[in-house]
Amino acid sequence: MADLSTKYMGLDLKNPLVVASCSLVNNVEGIRKCVDVGAGAIVLKSLFEEQIHAEAKDLEEHLWLYGHSEAFEYVSKLAMPLGPREYLKLIEKAKSAVSVPVIASLNCITPRWWADYAKQLDAVGADGLELNISVMPSDPGRTSEEIENLYLEIVETLRASVKVPIAVKIGSDFTSVARMADRLAQRGASALVLFNRYYQIDIDIEKIAVKPGYRFSSPDEMSIPLRWIALLAGRVGCDLAASTGVHDGAGVIKQLLAGATVVQLCSTLYLNGVERIGQILREIEEWIDGHGFTSLSEVRGKLSQMQSEHPELYERLQYIKALVGIE
Ligand SMILES: Cc1cc2nc3c(=O)[nH]c(=O)nc-3n(C[C@H](O)[C@H](O)[C@H](O)COP(=O)(O)O)c2cc1C
Repeated sequence: MADLSTKYMGLDLKNPLVVASCSLVNNVEGIRKCVDVGAGAIVLKSLFEEQIHAEAKDLEEHLWLYGHSEAFEYVSKLAMPLGPREYLKLIEKAKSAVSVPVIASLNCITPRWWADYAKQLDAVGADGLELNISVMPSDPGRTSEEIENLYLEIVETLRASVKVPIAVKIGSDFTSVARMADRLAQRGASALVLFNRYYQIDIDIEKIAVKPGYRFSSPDEMSIPLRWIALLAGRVGCDLAASTGVHDGAGVIKQLLAGATVVQLCSTLYLNGVERIGQILREIEEWIDGHGFTSLSEVRGKLSQMQSEHPELYERLQYIKALVGIE
């Protein structure tokens, strides 16, 4: 039987299938179900910075009456563990319920709130921390350098606060994804999750109103992470987790061949049930056996740009028939 064991951000996983941060894993029962059907690791549902703000806001209103801004700063810091206390409990319970790594997830938009809280995540036994940094670059007055520095500052702040390994989950909206990935690794990210699929919007033309877009990905969405995993594998000093659009065993194998250390699954688990994890594992094992490999290390990165016989294919951005004869 093929050896699927994988080291991801320094953690030992029995296989490379990681349940992505989502509501399927916001309670112990859901976490246990995923592990029972074979998940190699779990990333818990994110704790959002806004959740912490919401609590602090009540205090803010109260303290405003007294006009003590310093007191507000102090008390709002103290208030932090109150709201997210449930989250700490969830980590503790998950750790005693399952034996696979449990990675906590924080949705950050500033470095401000997290340092103290992250220490507590560390203390209750989280095996790692995934920072979902999602800053909307919508302000025309804000430079890309300012935004990138914010990402780096968040990672540095958290890196200095916790001992556990840190993964950083980003979107693909950077002018230089490669440079950003390299800088995040240099500032202490043990892994990059490529890429987050942001909340989608749509427009209802009958009601003439904005509405939520489709919640789940489709398999063709994995093409962008696939390209970037292939381009970055072996080039940045950290592990790479593929995320978005992986719905089956073939999708996982493609990402591993491109160079992914692990593959995160979400939409396919909502659409097909968490039992999908077991099916995907069997598909991977069959493929590995059928292609004469014995372990994942022989597969991983075989078609990354660094190892590929056709590295130029990953750099093609336009359809051109005239020069190369293919469209
Ligand atoms: C219902 C739902 C809730 C999610 N919640 C979170 C979250 O709290 N934190 C996070 O980082 N990503 C969250 N995600 C994004 C997923 O972790 C994942 O990155 C995204 O769905 C793309 O992967 P997929 O194509 O396998 O679905 C959520 C996705 C869904 C569908």
